Amino acid sequence: MRNAVIVMAVALLLPAVMQARAETPVERGSYLVNTIMTCGNCHSPKGPPAVVAGKDFSGGLTFDEPPFKVTASNITQDKETGIGGWSDADIKKLLLTGVRPDGVQVAEVMPTAFYPILTPGDLDAIVAYLRTVKPVRNKVPDPVYKIALPHHIVPGAEKAFTQADLSDKLKRGRYLVTIGHCLECHTPFVNGAHDFKNSLGKGGREFPGPWGVSKSRNITSSKTAGLGNWTDAEIKAAITQGKHKDGSPLKGPMGYQYYAKMTDADLDAVIAFVRTLPAID
Ligand code: HEC
Ligand code: HEC
Repeated sequence: MRNAVIVMAVALLLPAVMQARAETPVERGSYLVNTIMTCGNCHSPKGPPAVVAGKDFSGGLTFDEPPFKVTASNITQDKETGIGGWSDADIKKLLLTGVRPDGVQVAEVMPTAFYPILTPGDLDAIVAYLRTVKPVRNKVPDPVYKIALPHHIVPGAEKAFTQADLSDKLKRGRYLVTIGHCLECHTPFVNGAHDFKNSLGKGGREFPGPWGVSKSRNITSSKTAGLGNWTDAEIKAAITQGKHKDGSPLKGPMGYQYYAKMTDADLDAVIAFVRTLPAID
Protein backbone atom coordinates (compact mmCIF):
# COMPACT_ATOMS: atom_id res chain seq x y z
CA MET A 1 0.00 0.00 0.00
CA ARG A 2 2.71 2.44 1.00
CA ASN A 3 4.74 1.43 -2.07
CA ALA A 4 1.75 2.00 -4.28
CA VAL A 5 1.36 5.50 -2.88
CA ILE A 6 5.04 6.24 -3.53
CA VAL A 7 4.81 4.90 -7.09
CA MET A 8 1.78 7.06 -7.70
CA ALA A 9 3.44 10.12 -6.29
CA VAL A 10 6.49 9.56 -8.51
CA ALA A 11 4.29 8.99 -11.55
CA LEU A 12 2.46 12.22 -10.88
CA LEU A 13 5.67 14.16 -10.37
CA LEU A 14 7.52 12.87 -13.43
CA PRO A 15 5.81 14.91 -16.15
CA ALA A 16 6.44 18.10 -14.18
CA VAL A 17 10.11 17.23 -13.74
CA MET A 18 10.46 16.42 -17.44
CA GLN A 19 8.85 19.68 -18.47
CA ALA A 20 11.08 21.71 -16.22
CA ARG A 21 14.24 20.17 -17.74
CA ALA A 22 15.62 22.32 -20.53
CA GLU A 23 15.72 20.90 -24.03
CA THR A 24 19.21 19.63 -24.94
CA PRO A 25 20.81 20.70 -28.24
CA VAL A 26 20.28 17.17 -29.63
CA GLU A 27 16.58 17.31 -28.71
CA ARG A 28 16.20 20.76 -30.23
CA GLY A 29 17.99 19.61 -33.39
CA SER A 30 15.82 16.52 -33.62
CA TYR A 31 12.71 18.65 -33.26
CA LEU A 32 13.75 21.04 -36.04
CA VAL A 33 14.99 18.36 -38.44
CA ASN A 34 12.03 16.04 -37.92
CA THR A 35 9.25 18.65 -37.91
CA ILE A 36 9.35 22.08 -39.51
CA MET A 37 12.53 21.55 -41.58
CA THR A 38 11.30 18.21 -43.02
CA CYS A 39 14.84 17.08 -43.93
CA GLY A 40 13.65 13.47 -44.14
CA ASN A 41 10.89 14.39 -46.59
CA CYS A 42 13.67 14.71 -49.19
CA HIS A 43 16.59 12.79 -47.66
CA SER A 44 14.89 9.56 -46.49
CA PRO A 45 14.01 6.80 -48.94
CA LYS A 46 10.27 6.50 -49.51
CA GLY A 47 8.18 3.35 -49.10
CA PRO A 48 5.50 3.13 -50.44
CA PRO A 49 3.65 4.01 -48.36
CA ALA A 50 5.95 5.42 -45.67
CA VAL A 51 9.61 5.92 -44.94
CA VAL A 52 11.75 2.76 -45.23
CA ALA A 53 12.37 1.64 -41.64
CA GLY A 54 15.95 1.92 -40.39
CA LYS A 55 17.18 3.82 -43.45
CA ASP A 56 16.29 7.32 -42.35
CA PHE A 57 18.32 10.09 -44.01
CA SER A 58 20.31 7.66 -46.20
CA GLY A 59 19.37 9.32 -49.49
CA GLY A 60 16.06 10.13 -51.08
CA LEU A 61 14.33 11.97 -53.86
CA THR A 62 15.83 12.60 -57.28
CA PHE A 63 15.19 15.96 -58.93
CA ASP A 64 15.61 15.96 -62.70
CA GLU A 65 15.46 19.56 -63.92
CA PRO A 66 16.89 21.26 -67.01
CA PRO A 67 19.98 22.67 -65.19
CA PHE A 68 20.75 19.60 -63.07
CA LYS A 69 19.91 16.07 -62.01
CA VAL A 70 20.53 15.57 -58.30
CA THR A 71 19.56 13.12 -55.59
CA ALA A 72 19.00 14.14 -51.99
CA SER A 73 22.25 13.04 -50.34
CA ASN A 74 22.96 10.42 -47.73
CA ILE A 75 23.22 12.63 -44.62
CA THR A 76 23.75 9.81 -42.13
CA GLN A 77 27.03 9.51 -40.24
CA ASP A 78 28.42 6.89 -42.63
CA LYS A 79 31.99 8.04 -43.35
CA GLU A 80 32.16 6.93 -46.98
CA THR A 81 28.68 7.42 -48.39
CA GLY A 82 27.29 9.94 -45.89
CA ILE A 83 28.60 13.00 -44.05
CA GLY A 84 30.35 11.18 -41.18
CA GLY A 85 33.70 12.53 -42.38
CA TRP A 86 32.57 16.16 -42.47
CA SER A 87 33.56 18.57 -39.70
CA ASP A 88 30.91 20.60 -37.86
CA ALA A 89 32.13 23.65 -39.77
CA ASP A 90 31.69 21.78 -43.09
CA ILE A 91 28.06 21.00 -42.26
CA LYS A 92 27.30 24.55 -41.17
CA LYS A 93 28.89 25.96 -44.31
CA LEU A 94 26.76 23.66 -46.47
CA LEU A 95 23.58 24.68 -44.65
CA LEU A 96 24.33 28.40 -44.86
CA THR A 97 25.89 28.67 -48.31
CA GLY A 98 25.21 25.41 -50.15
CA VAL A 99 28.95 24.87 -50.68
CA ARG A 100 30.34 21.36 -50.08
CA PRO A 101 33.77 20.75 -48.52
CA ASP A 102 35.13 20.13 -52.06
CA GLY A 103 33.93 23.61 -53.08
CA VAL A 104 31.03 22.40 -55.24
CA GLN A 105 27.77 24.35 -54.95
CA VAL A 106 24.71 22.14 -54.43
CA ALA A 107 21.46 22.62 -56.31
CA GLU A 108 19.02 24.92 -54.57
CA VAL A 109 16.42 22.20 -54.24
CA MET A 110 18.35 21.85 -51.00
CA PRO A 111 16.75 24.87 -49.27
CA THR A 112 19.99 26.61 -48.30
CA ALA A 113 18.55 29.94 -49.51
CA PHE A 114 16.37 29.91 -46.38
CA TYR A 115 18.81 28.81 -43.70
CA PRO A 116 20.99 31.89 -43.06
CA ILE A 117 18.16 33.04 -40.72
CA LEU A 118 18.94 30.13 -38.34
CA THR A 119 19.98 31.24 -34.85
CA PRO A 120 23.53 30.16 -33.95
CA GLY A 121 22.01 27.92 -31.26
CA ASP A 122 19.69 26.18 -33.71
CA LEU A 123 22.50 25.71 -36.21
CA ASP A 124 24.58 24.01 -33.50
CA ALA A 125 21.56 21.94 -32.47
CA ILE A 126 20.97 20.67 -36.02
CA VAL A 127 24.62 19.61 -36.31
CA ALA A 128 24.50 17.98 -32.86
CA TYR A 129 21.44 15.96 -33.90
CA LEU A 130 22.88 14.95 -37.29
CA ARG A 131 25.86 13.49 -35.40
CA THR A 132 23.47 11.08 -33.68
CA VAL A 133 22.01 9.75 -36.93
CA LYS A 134 22.99 6.09 -37.28
CA PRO A 135 25.38 5.49 -40.21
CA VAL A 136 23.71 3.79 -43.16
CA ARG A 137 25.84 2.73 -46.09
CA ASN A 138 24.14 3.85 -49.28
CA LYS A 139 25.81 5.51 -52.24
CA VAL A 140 23.44 7.91 -53.98
CA PRO A 141 24.07 8.68 -57.66
CA ASP A 142 26.54 11.51 -58.28
CA PRO A 143 24.93 14.85 -59.10
CA VAL A 144 25.00 16.09 -62.69
CA TYR A 145 25.23 19.85 -63.17
CA LYS A 146 24.75 21.34 -66.62
CA ILE A 147 25.44 24.94 -65.60
CA ALA A 148 27.33 26.62 -62.75
CA LEU A 149 24.64 26.78 -60.09
CA PRO A 150 23.73 30.01 -58.32
CA HIS A 151 23.19 30.54 -54.61
CA HIS A 152 20.49 32.93 -53.49
CA ILE A 153 19.39 34.07 -50.08
CA VAL A 154 15.67 34.75 -49.90
CA PRO A 155 14.57 38.23 -48.82
CA GLY A 156 14.29 38.38 -45.04
CA ALA A 157 16.57 35.39 -44.39
CA GLU A 158 19.88 37.25 -44.80
CA LYS A 159 20.56 37.74 -41.11
CA ALA A 160 20.61 35.17 -38.30
CA PHE A 161 17.76 35.62 -35.84
CA THR A 162 18.59 35.80 -32.13
CA GLN A 163 17.12 33.70 -29.35
CA ALA A 164 15.25 36.83 -28.20
CA ASP A 165 13.56 37.14 -31.62
CA LEU A 166 11.99 33.73 -31.03
CA SER A 167 10.03 34.87 -27.99
CA ASP A 168 8.00 37.25 -30.15
CA LYS A 169 5.11 35.22 -31.64
CA LEU A 170 5.07 36.85 -35.08
CA LYS A 171 8.84 36.80 -35.44
CA ARG A 172 8.87 33.18 -34.35
CA GLY A 173 6.25 32.46 -37.01
CA ARG A 174 8.31 34.22 -39.66
CA TYR A 175 11.36 32.22 -38.56
CA LEU A 176 9.57 28.88 -38.70
CA VAL A 177 7.92 29.61 -42.06
CA THR A 178 11.35 30.61 -43.41
CA ILE A 179 13.30 27.55 -42.22
CA GLY A 180 10.33 25.41 -43.29
CA HIS A 181 10.69 26.96 -46.77
CA CYS A 182 6.88 27.13 -47.01
CA LEU A 183 6.98 30.06 -49.40
CA GLU A 184 9.42 28.35 -51.72
CA CYS A 185 6.69 25.90 -52.65
CA HIS A 186 3.86 28.41 -52.32
CA THR A 187 5.33 31.16 -54.56
CA PRO A 188 5.22 30.74 -58.35
CA PHE A 189 8.16 30.98 -60.73
CA VAL A 190 8.11 33.93 -63.09
CA ASN A 191 10.85 34.07 -65.74
CA GLY A 192 12.77 31.25 -64.09
CA ALA A 193 12.89 32.71 -60.57
CA HIS A 194 10.59 32.85 -57.55
CA ASP A 195 8.43 35.95 -57.77
CA PHE A 196 8.68 36.74 -54.04
CA LYS A 197 8.08 40.42 -54.77
CA ASN A 198 4.69 40.26 -56.49
CA SER A 199 3.35 36.76 -55.83
CA LEU A 200 4.44 35.80 -52.30
CA GLY A 201 2.25 32.90 -51.18
CA LYS A 202 0.08 32.92 -54.30
CA GLY A 203 0.68 29.24 -55.04
CA GLY A 204 0.49 27.65 -58.47
CA ARG A 205 3.78 25.73 -58.58
CA GLU A 206 3.35 22.23 -59.92
CA PHE A 207 4.78 19.16 -58.20
CA PRO A 208 4.84 15.84 -60.02
CA GLY A 209 5.11 12.75 -57.81
CA PRO A 210 3.53 9.42 -56.99
CA TRP A 211 0.31 11.41 -56.31
CA GLY A 212 0.14 12.63 -59.93
CA VAL A 213 0.70 16.38 -60.23
CA SER A 214 -0.21 18.64 -57.32
CA LYS A 215 -0.32 22.42 -57.48
CA SER A 216 0.57 24.51 -54.44
CA ARG A 217 -2.32 26.63 -53.22
CA ASN A 218 -2.81 30.28 -52.40
CA ILE A 219 -1.96 30.77 -48.71
CA THR A 220 -2.21 34.58 -48.67
CA SER A 221 -4.94 36.30 -46.68
CA SER A 222 -7.12 36.66 -49.79
CA LYS A 223 -10.72 35.95 -48.75
CA THR A 224 -11.57 34.40 -52.12
CA ALA A 225 -8.41 32.64 -53.35
CA GLY A 226 -6.48 32.20 -50.08
CA LEU A 227 -6.91 31.53 -46.37
CA GLY A 228 -8.67 34.81 -45.47
CA ASN A 229 -11.92 33.05 -44.60
CA TRP A 230 -10.38 30.05 -42.86
CA THR A 231 -10.36 29.62 -39.07
CA ASP A 232 -7.09 28.92 -37.26
CA ALA A 233 -8.30 25.36 -36.64
CA GLU A 234 -8.92 24.85 -40.37
CA ILE A 235 -5.46 26.11 -41.26
CA LYS A 236 -3.96 23.87 -38.59
CA ALA A 237 -5.79 20.84 -40.00
CA ALA A 238 -4.46 21.66 -43.47
CA ILE A 239 -0.87 21.92 -42.23
CA THR A 240 -0.86 18.92 -39.90
CA GLN A 241 -3.41 16.56 -41.45
CA GLY A 242 -3.37 17.56 -45.12
CA LYS A 243 -7.05 18.47 -45.06
CA HIS A 244 -8.60 21.25 -47.18
CA LYS A 245 -11.29 23.48 -45.59
CA ASP A 246 -14.00 21.25 -47.09
CA GLY A 247 -12.34 18.15 -45.63
CA SER A 248 -10.94 16.84 -48.93
CA PRO A 249 -7.41 15.37 -48.68
CA LEU A 250 -4.38 17.33 -49.90
CA LYS A 251 -1.58 15.70 -51.89
CA GLY A 252 2.20 15.73 -51.46
CA PRO A 253 4.95 16.80 -51.42
CA MET A 254 4.03 18.99 -48.42
CA GLY A 255 5.23 17.15 -45.29
CA TYR A 256 1.99 17.14 -43.26
CA GLN A 257 3.13 14.19 -41.11
CA TYR A 258 6.24 16.14 -40.08
CA TYR A 259 4.30 19.28 -39.15
CA ALA A 260 1.89 17.15 -37.12
CA LYS A 261 4.67 16.72 -34.54
CA MET A 262 5.16 20.46 -33.99
CA THR A 263 4.21 22.05 -30.67
CA ASP A 264 0.92 23.95 -30.54
CA ALA A 265 2.79 27.15 -29.73
CA ASP A 266 4.90 26.81 -32.89
CA LEU A 267 1.89 25.97 -35.05
CA ASP A 268 0.05 28.98 -33.67
CA ALA A 269 3.06 31.18 -34.49
CA VAL A 270 3.19 29.79 -38.06
CA ILE A 271 -0.51 30.51 -38.54
CA ALA A 272 -0.22 34.01 -37.06
CA PHE A 273 2.58 34.80 -39.52
CA VAL A 274 0.83 33.24 -42.54
CA ARG A 275 -2.16 35.49 -41.79
CA THR A 276 0.06 38.54 -42.35
CA LEU A 277 0.79 37.59 -45.99
CA PRO A 278 -0.84 40.35 -48.07
CA ALA A 279 -3.90 39.18 -50.01
CA ILE A 280 -3.24 38.24 -53.63
CA ASP A 281 -6.09 36.84 -55.72
C1 HEC B 1 13.30 19.94 -50.66
C2 HEC B 1 14.21 18.83 -50.44
C3 HEC B 1 15.28 18.95 -49.38
C4 HEC B 1 15.14 19.32 -48.05
C5 HEC B 1 13.86 19.72 -47.33
C6 HEC B 1 16.45 19.23 -47.45
N1 HEC B 1 17.37 18.84 -48.39
FE1 HEC B 1 19.37 18.58 -48.08
N2 HEC B 1 19.63 18.23 -50.07
C7 HEC B 1 18.62 18.04 -50.99
C8 HEC B 1 19.20 17.69 -52.26
C9 HEC B 1 18.43 17.40 -53.54
C10 HEC B 1 20.60 17.65 -52.08
C11 HEC B 1 21.67 17.34 -53.13
C12 HEC B 1 21.89 18.55 -53.99
C13 HEC B 1 22.99 18.36 -55.02
O1 HEC B 1 23.53 17.24 -55.14
O2 HEC B 1 23.32 19.33 -55.69
C14 HEC B 1 20.84 18.00 -50.69
C15 HEC B 1 22.10 18.08 -50.10
C16 HEC B 1 22.33 18.16 -48.74
C17 HEC B 1 23.63 18.06 -48.11
C18 HEC B 1 24.97 17.86 -48.83
C19 HEC B 1 25.42 16.44 -48.65
C20 HEC B 1 26.53 16.01 -49.59
O3 HEC B 1 26.97 14.85 -49.45
O4 HEC B 1 26.95 16.77 -50.44
C21 HEC B 1 23.42 18.13 -46.75
C22 HEC B 1 24.46 18.06 -45.64
C23 HEC B 1 22.00 18.29 -46.54
N3 HEC B 1 21.36 18.32 -47.77
C24 HEC B 1 21.39 18.36 -45.30
C25 HEC B 1 20.05 18.69 -45.11
C26 HEC B 1 19.45 18.96 -43.83
C27 HEC B 1 20.16 18.87 -42.50
C28 HEC B 1 18.15 19.32 -44.06
C29 HEC B 1 17.11 19.81 -43.09
C30 HEC B 1 17.57 20.86 -42.18
C31 HEC B 1 17.93 19.23 -45.50
N4 HEC B 1 19.10 18.84 -46.09
C32 HEC B 1 16.72 19.52 -46.12
C33 HEC B 1 17.28 18.21 -50.76
C34 HEC B 1 16.69 18.65 -49.58
C1 HEC C 1 7.44 20.93 -50.76
C2 HEC C 1 6.46 21.95 -51.08
C3 HEC C 1 5.62 22.52 -49.96
C4 HEC C 1 6.06 22.99 -48.74
C5 HEC C 1 7.47 23.01 -48.16
C6 HEC C 1 4.90 23.49 -48.07
N1 HEC C 1 3.79 23.33 -48.84
FE1 HEC C 1 1.86 23.84 -48.31
N2 HEC C 1 1.18 22.87 -49.97
C7 HEC C 1 1.95 22.39 -51.01
C8 HEC C 1 1.08 21.86 -52.04
C9 HEC C 1 1.53 21.26 -53.36
C10 HEC C 1 -0.26 22.02 -51.56
C11 HEC C 1 -1.55 21.64 -52.28
C12 HEC C 1 -1.77 20.15 -52.27
C13 HEC C 1 -3.02 19.78 -52.99
O1 HEC C 1 -3.67 20.66 -53.59
O2 HEC C 1 -3.41 18.59 -52.99
C14 HEC C 1 -0.15 22.68 -50.27
C15 HEC C 1 -1.23 23.02 -49.46
C16 HEC C 1 -1.17 23.85 -48.35
C17 HEC C 1 -2.29 24.36 -47.60
C18 HEC C 1 -3.75 24.06 -47.90
C19 HEC C 1 -4.38 25.20 -48.70
C20 HEC C 1 -5.69 24.84 -49.33
O3 HEC C 1 -6.29 25.73 -49.96
O4 HEC C 1 -6.12 23.70 -49.21
C21 HEC C 1 -1.81 25.17 -46.61
C22 HEC C 1 -2.62 25.96 -45.57
C23 HEC C 1 -0.38 25.15 -46.71
N3 HEC C 1 -0.02 24.33 -47.77
C24 HEC C 1 0.48 25.85 -45.89
C25 HEC C 1 1.86 25.59 -45.81
C26 HEC C 1 2.73 26.06 -44.75
C27 HEC C 1 2.32 27.00 -43.63
C28 HEC C 1 3.95 25.52 -44.99
C29 HEC C 1 5.20 25.60 -44.14
C30 HEC C 1 5.05 25.18 -42.75
C31 HEC C 1 3.86 24.75 -46.22
N4 HEC C 1 2.58 24.81 -46.69
C32 HEC C 1 4.93 24.07 -46.80
C33 HEC C 1 3.33 22.38 -51.06
C34 HEC C 1 4.19 22.74 -50.02
